[in-house]
Amino acid sequence: MEERSLGRGRVSVPVVGLGTWERLEAAAAAGQDRELIGGAIAAGIRLVDTSPMYGDAERLLAAALGGQRDRVFVADKVWTPSAAEGTAQLARAADWYGGRVDLMQIHNLVAWPAHLAMLEAARDGGTVGLIGATHYSPAAFGELAELMATRRIDAVQVPYNPVQREVERTILPLADELGLGVLLMRPFGEGQLVRRPRGPAELAPLRPFGVTTWGQALLKWGLSDPRVHVSLPATARPERLAENAAAGSPPWFGPEERDYVARLATTR
Ligand SMILES: NC(=O)c1ccc[n+]([C@@H]2O[C@H](COP(=O)([O-])OP(=O)(O)OC[C@H]3O[C@@H](n4cnc5c(N)ncnc54)[C@H](OP(=O)(O)O)[C@@H]3O)[C@@H](O)[C@H]2O)c1
Repeated sequence: MEERSLGRGRVSVPVVGLGTWERLEAAAAAGQDRELIGGAIAAGIRLVDTSPMYGDAERLLAAALGGQRDRVFVADKVWTPSAAEGTAQLARAADWYGGRVDLMQIHNLVAWPAHLAMLEAARDGGTVGLIGATHYSPAAFGELAELMATRRIDAVQVPYNPVQREVERTILPLADELGLGVLLMRPFGEGQLVRRPRGPAELAPLRPFGVTTWGQALLKWGLSDPRVHVSLPATARPERLAENAAAGSPPWFGPEERDYVARLATTR
């Protein structure tokens, strides 16, 4: 799997990660959480994104990592209006993940001015590797851009798929200009884009790019934008990991293939 450099060249990460919103708890309910995380690592998916917002996901991830913690880049979040609770969330996360969190993001920009100095001090002290910020809504991209322009964060996490392209207007150009890492959430539009998968005939032009499934076409669509560093598909199913990981290697799509996938995604 290809690796890209995140946070102004400070660390190299695999381009396909694993999201955990709702899906890690679903895997646990099916008794497959350890298999999911172990399978992800084995498939080369060595970056996992989680949050205190995702129920029991942080704890489940820590338990499933076991002795393999050092093989995985953990992207966690603070998600609270309270500065004191933000500090407590980081302390809990550090406790779960062997004393450090590789990327600590301010989830949905909640109370970012209250958390930023605490995260900077944690980064200086080594408890946090990189600092990031996330938002799912284009209505918040103006505020996200303001935070990016302070140059006090290393990475952003935003939605980007063929039907959600608002980040192309300001967030991706600004991230590129500032050298910020970009993690891409919702590569499958929370699953909506994979509900009607495209078949072999429609995927045939993408075969030279190593694409054999519709899911891979969508992942490769996002990762073929050079301003993106990591895609975060979420799955509860260990059997999907190899398929998703395989989308993380070149050759990358050019403008023609990206347009083709976008057309397939937006037409019946
Ligand atoms: N504000 C924020 O910070 C924020 C907001 C949204 C998301 N995120 C992050 O981004 C991650 C991804 O976003 P998301 O979970 O909303 O949605 P997503 O990754 O776009 O879609 C997840 C859905 O795709 C399905 N899926 C996964 N691989 C597949 C494949 N190869 N073929 C067909 N279906 C497949 C999964 O079902 P199965 O489980 O059945 O495979 C699941 O229902 C989240 O988990 C979270 O870590 C962050």
